[in-house]
Amino acid sequence: MTPGDLDDMADMLGDPRVMAFYPAPLSRAESADWIDRMQRRYDNDGHGLWLIETRDGDFVGDCGLTWQSANGARVLEVGYHVRSALQGRGYATEAALACVEVARTHLAPTTLTAIIHPGNIASRRVAERLGMTHIDDDRAHPWIVRTVMGMPLERASRDQA
Ligand SMILES: CC(C)(COP(=O)(O)OP(=O)(O)OC[C@H]1O[C@@H](n2cnc3c(N)ncnc32)[C@H](O)[C@@H]1OP(=O)(O)O)[C@@H](O)C(=O)NCCC(=O)NCCS
Repeated sequence: MTPGDLDDMADMLGDPRVMAFYPAPLSRAESADWIDRMQRRYDNDGHGLWLIETRDGDFVGDCGLTWQSANGARVLEVGYHVRSALQGRGYATEAALACVEVARTHLAPTTLTAIIHPGNIASRRVAERLGMTHIDDDRAHPWIVRTVMGMPLERASRDQA
């Protein structure tokens, strides 16, 4: 994700259908901040949300690995957003499965989580398809109890990597 992706990212993050479970759709300036934060995560952590594209290079959304907080503990999360026109085609599941393999290879042993608004059925289905189960409820947020889905990741051997 680079500043050159701002048009696509602002379209997606400004779409009320994509941001239904966030406080509000993002403005173009907030989308630019989002990209900036991801670039800082790449530098500091070696990972963040990356762009999802079709094989032809068309913009699909973002998906990746970020450090988040659940009940005050630092947890690794897989996150995903798909532009509304391309939802329901398996893109989030395919991208998130690739992220599970990255996490298994480079960050395990760890627990991989997905921290989800309880009404966000599509997001929960993606987490379940990765093999996650409901492991906790995050009560650290001021106005919502979020569902913490998760699964343990064991270290992949070098041969598997
Ligand atoms: C969550 C999201 C990324 C899923 O992307 P996607 O590419 O449509 O997901 P997939 O096509 O891989 O579908 C995964 C599962 O979700 C289901 N699903 C997709 N859209 C759905 C919807 N609107 N309502 C209910 N289930 C839905 C699919 O049927 C599939 O479940 P199945 O295995 O039972 O068939 C997408 O809905 C999205 O961008 N939502 C807004 C952003 C968001 O909330 N991100 C998560 C933040 S925690």
